[in-house]
Amino acid sequence: MSEPPASVQPDSVESSKGTAPAPDVRPVVVFRNVSIAFDDKPVLEDVSFSVAPGETRILLGPAGVGKSVLLKLVNGLLRPDQGSIQLFGQEIANMPEAQLFPMRTRTGMVFQEGALFDSLTVRDNVGYQLISERVPDDEIDARVHEALRFVELDDTFALYPASLSGGMRRRVAIARALIHQPELLLYDSPTGGLDPVTSTTIIELVMKERDVYRTPSLMVTHRLQDAFILCTHRFDEDQGCMVPLPQGVTNPDTTFLMLEEGRLIFDGSLHELLHTENKFVREFLE
Ligand SMILES: Nc1ncnc2c1ncn2[C@@H]1O[C@H](COP(=O)(O)OP(=O)(O)O)[C@@H](O)[C@H]1O
Ligand SMILES: [Mg+2]
Repeated sequence: MSEPPASVQPDSVESSKGTAPAPDVRPVVVFRNVSIAFDDKPVLEDVSFSVAPGETRILLGPAGVGKSVLLKLVNGLLRPDQGSIQLFGQEIANMPEAQLFPMRTRTGMVFQEGALFDSLTVRDNVGYQLISERVPDDEIDARVHEALRFVELDDTFALYPASLSGGMRRRVAIARALIHQPELLLYDSPTGGLDPVTSTTIIELVMKERDVYRTPSLMVTHRLQDAFILCTHRFDEDQGCMVPLPQGVTNPDTTFLMLEEGRLIFDGSLHELLHTENKFVREFLE
């Protein structure tokens, strides 16, 4: 039962040095000292953080602290007054709109409350971006079906949003965000307004995207329960559902940010979050 010495293993670190392409470790998003105000009212002040490939960052904070504003800054829907924002390695703080447009199609955004178009079918909601790019109809159909299968709603293809439950509408919004196989997902309170059981099914989808495609993401939530489930479970493709990680184990790539009055007051792991001395964080956790 002797193991070959490390030096003769074909893919030991030593032998692959210089030949294998280095994994892409460049951050997907970098904020440096970002500030924004509306009507002279500061909303975000001096905010710095990053999202690395494969990372899920959960953004916590009470209502009105600037969580949605922060997400909109990430894909250039809003511009900062000060600071630098890099998306996929490119500075976007002052990037002209025409250049930003293709950058935005590389990100998927699930807006607060889903924001579906009521006058359009599920097919046209999910395929909206592809329709505007004049992708051929059959290809749109195929890709919409694929996205709907991911969220387990393929049978809603021809329906209108009004005939769907709140949870189903949220899943359609997620399918719409996934249609481009985005390199970054932004979820704004994906479980907001949903009952706890439905919320968990939505979090399971966020987890599926994290664990099946390893898409980096930034997720706003006010529900700590959502955040804890994401940290303590993984999506099992064979079983088609989430399963708990062993006792005491948490997902190392799922970490936290917390805003308080426009300032980033926490950036760290679940363990650090639970053990922080920060008064605001502790109050929020109670
Ligand atoms: N486009 C806007 N124009 C003016 N004020 C805005 C705009 N967007 C957000 N705000 C203000 O910024 C603050 C933070 O909003 P928001 O990011 O939506 O908070 P939340 O953390 O609840 O998502 C709020 O006071 C809101 O009124
Ligand atoms: Mg918000």
